[in-house]
Amino acid sequence: MNVIRADNYQDMSQKAAAFLIQHIRQSPRTTLGLATGGTPIGTYRELVKDHREQGTSYRGVTTVNLDEYVGLEEDHPNSYRYYMENHLFREIDIDRHQTYLPDGRAEDLAAECQRYETLIRKVGGIDLQVLGIGRNGHIGFNEPGTPLHSRTHVVTLTSSTRQANARYFPSEEEMPTQAITMGIATILDSRQILLLASGEDKAPAIQHLLEGKPNPDFPASALIHHPRVTIVADNEALSGA
Ligand code: GLP
Repeated sequence: MNVIRADNYQDMSQKAAAFLIQHIRQSPRTTLGLATGGTPIGTYRELVKDHREQGTSYRGVTTVNLDEYVGLEEDHPNSYRYYMENHLFREIDIDRHQTYLPDGRAEDLAAECQRYETLIRKVGGIDLQVLGIGRNGHIGFNEPGTPLHSRTHVVTLTSSTRQANARYFPSEEEMPTQAITMGIATILDSRQILLLASGEDKAPAIQHLLEGKPNPDFPASALIHHPRVTIVADNEALSGA
């Protein structure tokens, strides 16, 4: 695993954006796997800034997101579709028809999971997957105990993840209890992975990840099986390593 150390959140965001911009400029028809959460917001802000100032184009780019809550309308302010529109898609020249997230409103959720797997294959697989990391080591919404061979599936969120993400909702009761997430095997199929981490509360998770021991109770440790992982983390997130 290649580690890029950043001074702070802003520096992490700039370094991660530079990595992505270089990739997009080299491969303008790339398929990006995208993540939500607080961590990548600054990175998306830097991508928008670069698009405006340097003209990096997303016309040929396809995106597939890691996950989506079950039960929220696309225009619900807490849906991940809304997040992506708000932080990135509406600010760049990407074709909306080439931006995909799981449909958390699907009537048949199991069929939706299969459709999403097929879709990822149809768009040629993921060239570069952006990941955040949960405090308990979750990636996407793959909670501790998720098997390595898991594909896109429906998850019931753990109380620790619900508590961590409740800050984005008016109250914890309004937070969905389920989500659709790419599985660990889906994520590991990506040709390249860029994991972002910032802040002291991520230090134990990053320390655990860099120890490099496979552990089903710590889903991010699956990444040690992947040949091309880059971690961009700030000093605080690296303080335990
Ligand atoms: C959510 C997302 C993950 C994300 C995690 C960490 O659970 N599904 O993809 O990595 O939160 O979020 P944050 O970056 O806000 O700490």
